[in-house]
Amino acid sequence: MPSHPLTIAIDGPAGAGKGTLATRLADYYHLPHLDTGLTYRAVAHMLLSKGWPLGDEPHAIAAAKLVDLSSLDRSSLSAHAVGEAASKVAVIPEVRRVLVEKQRAFAAQASGAVLDGRDIGTVVCPDATVKLYVTASAEVRARRRLAEIEANDGAGDFATILADIRRRDERDMGRTDSPLKPASDAHLLDTTEMDIETAFLAAKTLIDKALAEGNRG
Ligand code: DC
Repeated sequence: MPSHPLTIAIDGPAGAGKGTLATRLADYYHLPHLDTGLTYRAVAHMLLSKGWPLGDEPHAIAAAKLVDLSSLDRSSLSAHAVGEAASKVAVIPEVRRVLVEKQRAFAAQASGAVLDGRDIGTVVCPDATVKLYVTASAEVRARRRLAEIEANDGAGDFATILADIRRRDERDMGRTDSPLKPASDAHLLDTTEMDIETAFLAAKTLIDKALAEGNRG
């Protein structure tokens, strides 16, 4: 057992595989996992369902205060349109402040935790035991997304998906408050040419090394 709670921070752009990796790591190290993207999606979903504009700051902040981490329902939040809308409400600083406070409370559990998102290593958990920044080329992310849609019997257009991914990257990396970027002490994991098993093993090696160093120090 590590002498301190193990906190694993995973950041990266949409479709890089960080969610799958976070789930695998949480399972392997027996840690609770929070997909922080769901918290932004929950805010966007509330606004969309009421027909309120995504730039309506007072309503967005009120919605953020109502987000309950124990009842985030992935199935109702997974739609592509909700992800797009989440990226838009995520530029509102007060929405971020309210959600970050809830995310930090989750990270502070005595058991340790795995959190994935865009600003975990930089803002939410700057003292995380291990920080991973998971990337992949935009083309590979678009191809994976298309395969996912097709596996669910849907149809998609590669060029449209690629354009969406590029636009989302631009918004998430270009915002003023907590833009997506690797923390200075993050380990970069480029999954462009990796399958999930290879990415998991690479992450596990980095985490086990950090744990061994922590136990020595
Ligand atoms: O990871 P996701 O696709 O579910 O995230 C949806 C949007 O939420 C993403 O485009 C930007 C925002 N987000 C954020 O700003 N900070 C986070 N920690 C997680 C998500």
